[in-house]
Amino acid sequence: MATVDRGFFHLLKSRANQIAKKGKAVPITYKLIASFLLISIFTNLFFTIAGITFIGNRIISEAQEKVRNDLNSAREIYLAELRHIMDVVELTARRPILQDIFITGVTENIQSDLDFERKSEDLDILTVVDKSGTVVLRTNYPYNTGDNLFTQEIIKSALTKKETVASSTIVPVDFLVKESPRLVENAHFVFIDTPMARPRPDTEENSGMLLAVAVPVFNDENLMIGSLFGAVLLNRNFTIVDTIKQTVFQGMMYKGKDIGTATIFQDDIRISTNVLTEQGTRAIGTRVAEDVYDQVVVNGLPWVARAYVVNNWYITAYEPIKSISGAVIGILYVGILEQKYIDLRQSAVLTFLFISLCGILASVGISYIISRSILIPVQKIASASKELAQGNLEIRVEKTSDDELGALADGFNTMAYALKERDERLKEFTRKKFMESERLALVGQLAANVAHELNNPLQGIVTYSHLLLEKDSTDEPTNQNIRKIVVQANRCRDIIRGLLDFSRQRKPDKTLSDINSILNEGISLVENQALFHNVKIVLNLDESLPKVVIDPSQIVRVFINLIVNAAEAMDGNGRLTISSRLDNEKKCVEIEVSDTGPGISEENIDKIFDPFFTTKETGHGVGLGLAISYGIIKEHKGSLSVESEIGKGTTFTVRLPLAPVKIGNGNES
Ligand SMILES: Nc1ncnc2c1ncn2[C@@H]1O[C@H](COP(=O)(O)OP(=O)(O)O)[C@@H](O)[C@H]1O
Ligand SMILES: [Mg+2]
Repeated sequence: MATVDRGFFHLLKSRANQIAKKGKAVPITYKLIASFLLISIFTNLFFTIAGITFIGNRIISEAQEKVRNDLNSAREIYLAELRHIMDVVELTARRPILQDIFITGVTENIQSDLDFERKSEDLDILTVVDKSGTVVLRTNYPYNTGDNLFTQEIIKSALTKKETVASSTIVPVDFLVKESPRLVENAHFVFIDTPMARPRPDTEENSGMLLAVAVPVFNDENLMIGSLFGAVLLNRNFTIVDTIKQTVFQGMMYKGKDIGTATIFQDDIRISTNVLTEQGTRAIGTRVAEDVYDQVVVNGLPWVARAYVVNNWYITAYEPIKSISGAVIGILYVGILEQKYIDLRQSAVLTFLFISLCGILASVGISYIISRSILIPVQKIASASKELAQGNLEIRVEKTSDDELGALADGFNTMAYALKERDERLKEFTRKKFMESERLALVGQLAANVAHELNNPLQGIVTYSHLLLEKDSTDEPTNQNIRKIVVQANRCRDIIRGLLDFSRQRKPDKTLSDINSILNEGISLVENQALFHNVKIVLNLDESLPKVVIDPSQIVRVFINLIVNAAEAMDGNGRLTISSRLDNEKKCVEIEVSDTGPGISEENIDKIFDPFFTTKETGHGVGLGLAISYGIIKEHKGSLSVESEIGKGTTFTVRLPLAPVKIGNGNES
C-alpha cells in the first residue's frame, strides 16, 4: 500500500511541476481586465459615435432652423423699408403743393420744399411726372426735366392702374445719370472675384437696384394728373443690412468676426452687405456662389444650407427678390458663421470623448479591483493546491467569502482533510499489517518448533500404540481404548504434519503431469470416507487437457483440501462438481471445485486463506488447509480464487500456467 501511496504523490508532484512550468500563461487578472475593457471600449465607442452624430446633426439643424427664422425677420426689415418709402411718398402725393405743380407750374418754393422732404426722409429720388410719364419736377436736378419715364415699370404701373405701386426694381445707368452722379457712382461695381463665385463674361455693372414707390396724383375732380415717384438706391446703401445685423443678430461677434451677416444681391452681385473681405472691408462687388445662384435666381426657390460666402463657410438662407412683374432681380441673404457651430460641435465631441475616456479609465480601475478580488482567493487556492501536491497535507486555505470562491475554498479544505485522513488510515493500516505479519511469522516459527519437538514423541506414541494393538487383541475393552489412542494419535500426527508443511513451505518438485489423473487420484483417496457417502461427485474433465509442469504430490494435496472442505461445508450431503478445462487466452489450465453448500459470508471470505482461520468446531479444523493450498499454488505461479453465494454454494478455482516452466528442484524464481 505504501508504494501505491508514493506513486500517487509522485504523480501529483510532477503534475504540479508541469503547471508551474507553464507559468508564462497570461494571468487571469489580465484576461478579466481585458474583457471588461473590451466591453466598455466598445459600448463607449458606440455611444460616443452615436452621441456625436446626434449632437452634431442637432446643432447644425438648430442653426439652420435659426437662420430660416432670421431670414423671415430680414424680409420684414426689408419690406418695412419699402413701406416707409411708400408712407412718405403717399403722404407727400396728397399734399396740395403737388396739385399746384400742375396748375401753377413749378416754383422755387415747391422745388425746395420737396427736396427738403426727400432729404429728411432719406430718399434718393423724389420725382414728379405728368400722366404721360414726362418729368415735371426732379428734386435732385431741378432744371433737368421734360424726359419721359413711362418705360420705368413702377411709374408705368402706377399711371396705368391709377394706384400706388411699391416694389424693388432695376434701373439702368441712364436713369441714374438723370438723377445724380452720386447714385451713378454708388451703382457702379467692378466685380471682385472670390472662390466659388459664379463666372460671368462681363466685369462690371452700372445699373442700380431701387426700392421704389409710385403714387398717382389726383386733382380736385379726382382725375389723375400725374404721379409722384420716390425711391432709395440699394447699391452701397447699408441701412437695411446693418439694421438686420443689429436687430436679428445683435451684432454678436465670434473670434473677431460677425456671427450674423446680411446681404442684398442685385442679380448675383453683392450691392449691400456686411459680409467682410479678408481686408475687413464690406464684400460689395463680390458675387454669389454658383449653386446658390442656380437655385435662387434661376429657379426662384429659397436656399437654406451651408454655403461658401466670400471667404468663409456660413449656414445660410437665401430668398429671391422679385420685381413687380415677378422676375427675380436679386437675392436677400442672411447667414451665420458656421465656425461657431463647428466649434460648438467640436467641443461637444471633445466633452463626449473626455467623458467616455473617463468611463473607460473608471472601468479599467473597477475591473482591476474586481478581478483582483476574484483572483487573490483563486491564487491562494492554486498555491495551496501546489503545496498539497508536493505533499503538505496540513495546508488549508482561508475562506474569505460566501460565494463560489468560498465554496471552492471549502471544497479544497475538505479535500485536503480527507487526503490527510486517508493518509493516516493508510499508515495505520500498513503498520497493523506489518505487525500482524510479524506476529504471524513468530507464531509460525513457534508452531514449527513445537511441531518439530512434538513429532518424535508422537511418532513413538503412534508406533507403540500400534504394537500394543497387535499384541493385545483379545481384551476387548482394552483393545477399544488402544484403538482410540491410535485414532487420536493419528489426528495429532496430521495436525503436526500440517503445521510442519505450512512452516516449511517446501519448494515444489515439478514434473510434467496430467491434471485429470491427479484429480482422479485425489478423489479416489477421499471418496471412500463416510463423509462422501451422500455426496454426488460430478466430473467435467477436459480429456484433451495438455500436461503441465507441477509437483503432483503438492497439487493433489490442494485438490484434496478443496474437495474435503466442500464435502464438510455440505455436511456430507450435496453435489460436488469438479471440472477442468484449457484457457487458451490466459495460457493456463483451469480447475474448478464447486459445491452446493451454504456458501461463505462476506465477512469471512477475505479471511479463509489466512492461516489458522477456521469456522469449524475445535478438534475438527485447524484452519491451515487453504493457507497451505494458497502457498502451493503461488509457488507454482498459479492462482487460487473463490466465488461464493450464500445459500447456493461455493466455487474454488485453481489456475496453473501452461508456459514452459524449468523442470528442476524448484529453485526457480
Ligand atoms: N467449500 C467451502 N464452503 C464453505 N466454506 C468453506 C469452504 N471451504 C473452506 N471454507 C471455509 O474456510 C475455512 C478455512 O478452511 P481451511 O483453511 O481448509 O481450514 P479448516 O478446513 O481446517 O477450517 C473453513 O473453516 C470454512 O469456514
Ligand atoms: Mg480444510
